[in-house]
Amino acid sequence: MTAPIVNIAEIGRYESTSVTLRGWLYNSSGKGKILFLQLRDGSGIVQCVCMKQELGDALFEQLKHAGQETSLIVTGTVRADTRSKLGFELAVTAAEVVGVSSNYPISPKEHGDAFLFDNRHLWFRSRRPYHILHIRHLAVQAIRNYFDSRGYLLLDSPIFTPAACEGTSTLFETEYFGKKAYLSQSGQLYQEAGATAFGKTYCFGPTFRAEKSGTRRHLTEFWMVEPELTWVGLDDIMDLCEDFLVEVVGHILKHGRPHLEALERDISALERVQKPFPRMSYDDACAQLAELGHPVDPEDDFGSPHETTLTKQYDRPILVHRYPSAVKAFYMKGDPENLLRALGVDVLAPEGYGEIIGGGVREDSLEVLEHKIEEHQLPKEAFEWYLDLRRYGTVPHGGFGLGLERLVTWVCGIHHVRETVPFPRTIDRVTP
Ligand code: 4AD
Ligand code: MG
Repeated sequence: MTAPIVNIAEIGRYESTSVTLRGWLYNSSGKGKILFLQLRDGSGIVQCVCMKQELGDALFEQLKHAGQETSLIVTGTVRADTRSKLGFELAVTAAEVVGVSSNYPISPKEHGDAFLFDNRHLWFRSRRPYHILHIRHLAVQAIRNYFDSRGYLLLDSPIFTPAACEGTSTLFETEYFGKKAYLSQSGQLYQEAGATAFGKTYCFGPTFRAEKSGTRRHLTEFWMVEPELTWVGLDDIMDLCEDFLVEVVGHILKHGRPHLEALERDISALERVQKPFPRMSYDDACAQLAELGHPVDPEDDFGSPHETTLTKQYDRPILVHRYPSAVKAFYMKGDPENLLRALGVDVLAPEGYGEIIGGGVREDSLEVLEHKIEEHQLPKEAFEWYLDLRRYGTVPHGGFGLGLERLVTWVCGIHHVRETVPFPRTIDRVTP
């Protein structure tokens, strides 16, 4: 009987039987007539024990000299191994080298960041990216589950757009059959059209911003999820942000604990992500920052250092609302109690991570919006379709945008957003 081909993650089910594994050589060691191969297949890593006596001189020598990342097909008997994390190892009875690999550039020793990102296509195979990208996957799953189970329609926003959503300074422009088009900075405006048609919608896709500074929070291509719903006010949107984050973090904790542990994440910090999140106005946050010796001009926006200082005071995300209208996008509705303040909210992640969500109530008056478009010196023609949403049955509505990579950076407890995306795009990188 030929041995079944199985994944490393499932070999526990095959104790004392013969299985075939297919994977890559992660590491090897040995002495004399015994060789230990660490085999990796994407589902896990297992130790494969090779005995010269069993495999014969020629194969044993070939395996002994196989370089890191050589691809292999290995057959052997699964047996318990209490010293390994997996709890099992493979006693090899047969093996075949499929693809040789010599001088693999990424060894288990330390490498510099630039080198690792130049080799991102290979670096993937190492453990740290493996765990981080699994957390990203779980985050995407949780986000989709959240909206799908609550009646939101998934409505994809276009990537090529005729207009700026989030200010003209970070637009990527492209030539579009003799006309100009821009890569989308946010799918929001299209979700506003969607919400008036379907009640509640969301989009989840890549967005682009020509960020001219290289910070640990900025990518030029990042993924954003943007729910939009009608008949809501600022408090409803804040409730939604809170409920959403509690569920998403809860899902990752439930299904991703081994990955978080491997990343040495302080899990108790994530377990504290429970309702209610502290809520404060921007003006109150400024007063608190002044007391902490970190004053902000109250008509200006927070910089990253302000967000870091503020969020270090809290053990869970905070909701900062009513920012100065002057620093926010043209579509934000002014607070009727003080038009210098916008009915917007930013969610700032704790432990110094800062903004992960931006959202709020949209201006629903045609006249005010026309005036705002002028004030922001935006080309009105490009927004005619958007103004139609106010011409034909305007209603109070709003939503938010969550940056996936910012969320994952915080959840993983790592320093830089670029590690949370398979192939990061930043001011100084478009390869590999
Ligand atoms: O605060 P922002 O600019 O809000 C919007 O785009 C709204 N139109 C969203 C909406 O209401 N539908 O961006 C939203 C989020 C930020 O909070 C941040 O998490 C992320 O997008 N983000 C970035 N992430 C990585 N790199 C960048 N350059 C980012 N810019 C924004
Ligand atoms: Mg923002």
